[in-house]
Amino acid sequence: MLESGVNQQDTDVYPYPVARIGIVGGGQLGRMMVRAAKSIGCACVVLDPTPNSPAGQVSGHQIVGDYHDPVALRELVESCDVTTFEIEDVDTHTLIELSRAGRRIYPCPSLLADIQDKLCQKRALSAAGIATAEFVAADRPDAGEFARFGYPLVQKARRGGYDGRGVQVMHCADDFKYHLPVPSLIERFIPSDKELAVMVARGQDGDTRCYPPVEMCVHANENILDLLLAPARISAEVAEAARKLAIDTVAALAGVGIFGIELFLTQNQELLVNEVAPRTHNSGHYTIEACMTDQFEQHLRAITGLPLGSTDLLAPAAMINLLGVPGFGGRPVIRGLRAALAVPGVSLHLYGKSTTHAYRKMGHVTVLDDDIEQARDKAEQVRDLIRIEGEERI
Ligand SMILES: Nc1ncnc2c1ncn2[C@@H]1O[C@H](COP(=O)(O)OP(=O)(O)O)[C@@H](O)[C@H]1O
Ligand SMILES: [Mg+2]
Repeated sequence: MLESGVNQQDTDVYPYPVARIGIVGGGQLGRMMVRAAKSIGCACVVLDPTPNSPAGQVSGHQIVGDYHDPVALRELVESCDVTTFEIEDVDTHTLIELSRAGRRIYPCPSLLADIQDKLCQKRALSAAGIATAEFVAADRPDAGEFARFGYPLVQKARRGGYDGRGVQVMHCADDFKYHLPVPSLIERFIPSDKELAVMVARGQDGDTRCYPPVEMCVHANENILDLLLAPARISAEVAEAARKLAIDTVAALAGVGIFGIELFLTQNQELLVNEVAPRTHNSGHYTIEACMTDQFEQHLRAITGLPLGSTDLLAPAAMINLLGVPGFGGRPVIRGLRAALAVPGVSLHLYGKSTTHAYRKMGHVTVLDDDIEQARDKAEQVRDLIRIEGEERI
């Protein structure tokens, strides 16, 4: 399509494959994106340092290289019509250069550069008037500075954190001993009623589609998404306000592609943006079965200039992550599969990771049911049935 010289606007004629998509990162998000790409006629090339990565296995074409290796990134971008990413911790300098040289990379790598630094991200959000928890920079974490800001607070590493790594909740001055010794920001601890997420897709022409707000129940110790409910059990007014806040956030960032907006719903029913993921998101996996257009296809439509699809929810859904059981490593051993798959409405996704470790995301399960509480009960039942252990005890 894009470099073929065919003018699709006039003719709506495409070569096949429709576009070659470069994906930086070969994890589960990339894997699910490759599947969606194939169904809309696109081919994918994946860049990941681990040979036979989850996404590489299904794309059939992987460049084995690091996300920070300029040579590998250049090779990926130059061999594709459009490049995107499934992770944030990538070399944005090279991507910005390539983008300036006319290569199509979405979301825009300079936006990725702002978002991958949590302090820059919060500054960009507050400059745009988006409500977030009050924060200050803490480049060299200091007990006096933390005390002046006031406890309880949350310290967040500026870079490199994910799935709760790089986030430290501190209730009192004594907790300073647990601080992360890295450039950070500190922000108010928000005693939230619920954590919500809203996926928003925005096309190159600014056309925007928003998925229903979902409810994220976060694993108490590990800060990893434990259970997701779609739609969130909130009032219609709060749902509308959450959608508006998420759409305003993506518009303020002039994002192209899909974005996951994590929100806190405070005990006073106020909404604050916690963070922005400039990519498909764990809270959007349920869209594969439960929505008219899933988040992966939607993202691809946005970045290739195809029309965005409907975000309508077809059925209530609950989703759980399948995490590696602590104490095991090596090749995965899956227990309880037969019992879990016998539960009506269950869809299983395993990510093809050749080794497991404690709390590693190995797969997920989505359950559809006309009744959200039933969906939740079944998802919890499946969580208790399936155990991903490993061949090695560690
Ligand atoms: N300001 C805050 N107040 C209360 N809890 C928070 C705050 N910031 C983060 N958390 C908790 O920590 C989790 C992980 O933090 P987050 O900023 O989303 O980082 P990550 O990049 O690891 O997802 C959140 O989902 C939430 O449960
Ligand atoms: Mg988060």
